[in-house]
Amino acid sequence: MTTQMVSGSVPLDEARRNIRETQRVNAEVLQQFHEVFYNATFTWGMTSFTGIGLTKAPSDLWMYQELLTIHRPQTIIETGTYQGGSAMWFAFLMDVLNIEDGRIFTVDLEDQRDIRARHPRVTFLEGNSTDPAIVKQITAHVKGPLLVSLDSDHASDHVRTELDVYGALCQVGDWLVVEDTNVAWESDGGARAGAEGYLRRHPGEWFQDILRERYLVSMHPGGWWQRVAACPHHAASRKGSHAARRRLDVPDLSEAQR
Ligand SMILES: C[S@@+](CC[C@H](N)C(=O)[O-])C[C@H]1O[C@@H](n2cnc3c(N)ncnc32)[C@H](O)[C@@H]1O
Repeated sequence: MTTQMVSGSVPLDEARRNIRETQRVNAEVLQQFHEVFYNATFTWGMTSFTGIGLTKAPSDLWMYQELLTIHRPQTIIETGTYQGGSAMWFAFLMDVLNIEDGRIFTVDLEDQRDIRARHPRVTFLEGNSTDPAIVKQITAHVKGPLLVSLDSDHASDHVRTELDVYGALCQVGDWLVVEDTNVAWESDGGARAGAEGYLRRHPGEWFQDILRERYLVSMHPGGWWQRVAACPHHAASRKGSHAARRRLDVPDLSEAQR
């Protein structure tokens, strides 16, 4: 296995190049490890936070920790609550980071929450994440900065619709994570196909940050997005933008990463 050292002092763009090159050179072994990790019944599927189940890789949870630290979201929208462990992780991080008035809105088709998954920052909504009534309830409370985590139904059509709805709420600088882009669900290409379809219709709007994949095991490859340009169709979709409608000074890697 070839290793490229990335030290804490390496400039971010250089780190991104190193990560991409390391992924390229070690593609086969990384794919093999990913499959072993993903298919084992005792890895992400047995993960918990404070005893509450959550279905994420520890490396991805750590990346969320870094994102909350740098972005300090006032609002987190999560689709797919399941047992509530991930919402509790976000709430715990907001507490530790002292994000005043930070709130989490998490939606699921049914309430499967662990009885312990309760926190004053967390609002649970029961229903379909793309139901206009649910979207309206969430939108009414969104304050920037915003972080969106899409982790409900990973079928491509559903992911595309979620991206249309929740991507439009993101202002320049906000983050959105399309989860589970690592597997093709059923026959429709899954979250990855949904994300790619959306990106084709929204060129240049998002920066896919490979830095978030630097532990070389992420269940969301190509799914860590920061908005770098406003959507022309939804430019005014959220009131009180915290960020000016401008391009961020980061390159758009969407093409390069395909
Ligand atoms: C992968 S789990 C969520 C895991 C959770 N975010 C975590 O990290 O532990 C997916 C959840 O999405 C819910 N779900 C599926 N389709 C949905 C939809 N259309 N709208 C809202 N939730 C949905 C399922 O009920 C399930 O609980």
